[in-house]
Amino acid sequence: MSQKVIDLLNKARSRELTAISQYMAQHYELEDGDFGKLASKIKEIAITEMKHAEKLAERILFLNGEPIYKPDALPKKGQPIPGMLTTDMALEAASIKLYNEAAFVCAAEKDQISKDLFEGLLKEEEDHINYFENTKDHVDKLGDAYLATLTG
Ligand SMILES: [Fe+2]
Ligand SMILES: [Fe+2]
Repeated sequence: MSQKVIDLLNKARSRELTAISQYMAQHYELEDGDFGKLASKIKEIAITEMKHAEKLAERILFLNGEPIYKPDALPKKGQPIPGMLTTDMALEAASIKLYNEAAFVCAAEKDQISKDLFEGLLKEEEDHINYFENTKDHVDKLGDAYLATLTG
């Protein structure tokens, strides 16, 4: 058992907890602003991040560590949609960077299961950043016409 790996799993969990509260905050605001389609997509991503936080906790407990309960940042509130998407892209990019590094450390520590866990998360974070980037791109290029397709 490696304390290095447990610390990384907890760092990741803390980041997931930030993403969960950020995406929930956005989902409520978007729902309130009648951007129902975007709201449900972001809610779906928030639920995926909850599963990530759980998987990390399960692994930490298995390694006899103690899962962290504190997010590493507070959610931003009241951003316009392009600002929200920029925030989300930054969150995902930071997770991708951390999980890539973490997978490398897990390999060095000969912890294949934790490495697989980080790689699994990476795949989903890449889908998320891809979604946020595409959406931001459309909003930037098409403006209100595209925003109108995200209502409902
Ligand atoms: Fe995640
Ligand atoms: Fe994500």
